Amino acid sequence: KRLVVLVSGSGTNLQALLDAIAETGPAYGAEVVAVGADRDGIEGLARAERAGLPTFVCRVKDYDSRESWDAALTEAVAAYEPDLVVSAGFMKIVGKEFLARFGGRFVNTHPALLPSFPGAHGVRDALAYGAKVTGCTVHFVDDGVDTGPIIAQGVVEVRDEDDESALHERIKEVERRLLVEVVGRLARNGYRIEGRKVVIQ
Ligand code: GRF
Repeated sequence: KRLVVLVSGSGTNLQALLDAIAETGPAYGAEVVAVGADRDGIEGLARAERAGLPTFVCRVKDYDSRESWDAALTEAVAAYEPDLVVSAGFMKIVGKEFLARFGGRFVNTHPALLPSFPGAHGVRDALAYGAKVTGCTVHFVDDGVDTGPIIAQGVVEVRDEDDESALHERIKEVERRLLVEVVGRLARNGYRIEGRKVVIQ
């Protein structure tokens, strides 16, 4: 199966996928064919280039509307004919055209236990709320923000001494393993989405 991965930052989730694929080989069931971003100059793109992968950048400010950005992103991803698109820290909300094209085969990883703490600051929000456990969620993307059908979750304890970055690092250790496991299973086994339920064969 062909994966396109979308990043906006350090790309450690992307790196976890690349490392798992390199170690497992074809038995993993998927390969990353391209990496896209919404901004230049990020470590996630450098990781892709070091892996010899094609990359593309679609910056919102280069387009005269959000819709035309969404159309450009859709075309850029479609050019690689992915079976599955993975948002691994991609910090933009995709639009109708992208979802029309890739809905049902577009997964996202979020650093909180959805439906708690959706949005761009899930780690900070859980900490501020005083949650005792938080974690990460891998889900299909729908037309909401972090609201699509949940595929898998991992739990991470919150420690009294945690600040946002310490907690986020601990979450990412779980998140990277969860994403690698889920993407591999979706790719190898196939799956069905029945309402809010995801059935992996
Ligand atoms: C991940 O925790 C992801 O859930 C969140 O941002 C982080 C991206 O980390 N949206 P990286 O770029 O994969 O290192």
